[in-house]
Amino acid sequence: MSSTGRRLRLAPSLLSADFADLVSAIHACEAGGAEALHLDVMDGHFVPNLSFGPALVAAVRARTNLPLDIHLMIDRPAKYAAAFARAGGSTLVFHVESSDEPAEVVRTIRSLGAEVGAAIKPGTEFRQVEPLLDRLDQVLVMSVEPGFSGQSFLPSALPKLRAARARLDSIGSDADVSIDGGVTAETAVAAAREGATFFVCGNSVFAGGDVVENLRRLRAAVDGGAAGAVR
Ligand code: DX5
Ligand code: ZN
Repeated sequence: MSSTGRRLRLAPSLLSADFADLVSAIHACEAGGAEALHLDVMDGHFVPNLSFGPALVAAVRARTNLPLDIHLMIDRPAKYAAAFARAGGSTLVFHVESSDEPAEVVRTIRSLGAEVGAAIKPGTEFRQVEPLLDRLDQVLVMSVEPGFSGQSFLPSALPKLRAARARLDSIGSDADVSIDGGVTAETAVAAAREGATFFVCGNSVFAGGDVVENLRRLRAAVDGGAAGAVR
């Protein structure tokens, strides 16, 4: 919980987990108190990497009751939204850069009964997502170039977090402000201080040490950062 009473959620990114043993990864995330799982969908066009599609989302859905946060790093997100909603995605997060008609993508996802998130890449200004804010459940600010886990956090994301939180507050929205890329116990403090409420963590959860202990450390960091938030 933040000092403003907002709930803070940790969402491990399965991209950094062992794909051959996802069930163990899911159980460890549950044991560590993760509030959601983040699944990175990549098409080799919108980003230069490929990951997985709806079949894997459905397989994960069958193994956990945690909300599934589906990060669509793909072209033509509206075309594939139904498949990811059917597979059990709770929130479908699309990139505003991937469509000429982002408002239409929001409508499509909403009509499927899923929550809606909109993401911006490091080079995209906050104002690109601003017109959509009153229709979103989540704004995702990327703090690395999308496509790969294990990159370093770009501090240029921080002012965007603050702008997103301020604008959402000003319209009475309690939508999440999500930070994705290079989130560690150190960078999470700064992100929480700027108003992030949803923390996607890949390598900091899975790339070394014990998942439950890693999540405990991240939890302490976000709670500490939020307590120091200037609002
Ligand atoms: C990057 C993905 C991230 C990634 C995060 O394109 O969107 O979700 O898995 O991994 P870390 O936390 O290692 O940067
Ligand atoms: Zn992601």
